[in-house]
Amino acid sequence: MSGPKAFVVGWPIAHSRSPLIHGTWLKQLGLLGSYEKIAVPPDAFPAFIAGLRQAGFAGGNVTIPHKQAAAALCGQLTATAQRLGAVNTLWFEGDVLTGDNTDGAGFLGALDQDVPDWDKRRRDLAIVLGAGGAARAIADALLTRGFSRLIIANRTLERADALVRDIRDARCEASGFLGAQAALPRADFLVNTTSAGMRGQPPLDFAIDDLPEHAVVDDIVYVPRDTPLLRAASARGLRTVGGLGMLLHQAAPGFEHWFGVLPKVTPELRAIVEADIEADLEARR
Ligand code: ATR
Repeated sequence: MSGPKAFVVGWPIAHSRSPLIHGTWLKQLGLLGSYEKIAVPPDAFPAFIAGLRQAGFAGGNVTIPHKQAAAALCGQLTATAQRLGAVNTLWFEGDVLTGDNTDGAGFLGALDQDVPDWDKRRRDLAIVLGAGGAARAIADALLTRGFSRLIIANRTLERADALVRDIRDARCEASGFLGAQAALPRADFLVNTTSAGMRGQPPLDFAIDDLPEHAVVDDIVYVPRDTPLLRAASARGLRTVGGLGMLLHQAAPGFEHWFGVLPKVTPELRAIVEADIEADLEARR
């Protein structure tokens, strides 16, 4: 017996941390099963999906650039995946390939774990920096958790406009970075969903001096762990959430679908993944 088989598919996929995360959970929980990474180029993706059952997979994760194509190839989607038009988690319900998008749930799971009382406080205004797929999932998650107003601010205003049109919720408005800066004194929450601040990328050009003292600052970038944005927020004494928690929490629902147990995001798991990231950074120095 070798247990259920799962995968993460992307193009490229070499640097995915998902095998480490799921492999650690399998080991910690003493479960039989496997989780492998598979590189599939876009033109071969439909055939890959069509062959999943035949290959004996219980399901898997989907990452860049296949999340939207995967949504189109599923037999059914969760309500969240339908709203987002993108899927990161696949499993079979009977014979029906089913897709969910757990990025928003992962984002909320990390926030709930790291700042447990965040949604007991004022939730008048959240500012989301960026307008890509991650911004879409996070804006959706913040709306489900009761923010009365959301500013989606992007370096390129047109993309923020397009995202707000797509979300179709009167609580959302689009802005450039300057507009978001002007709204900072009224903001309760700020999240960076852009790749700025990531290793090898320029730092985010966005000063947070005008945020009120109760504001929470979240950065979904997890390499490095302390991005310039999070450092600036900590220096001001604001509460912060880093991106590693989102990566770990978004993985949990898939694991439960394939292997039958909802795994926990423990300090031990965080330490294992952090050590792996550190080793990678060290190797590149
Ligand atoms: P994903 O789907 O992973 O969220 P994406 O679609 O590649 O990412 O979008 C990347 C986001 O990061 C965009 O909002 C991009 O802004 P633009 O639309 O103006 O390009 C943002 N981004 C990337 N580098 C940035 C930088 N140095 N400063 C500000 N925003 C940046």
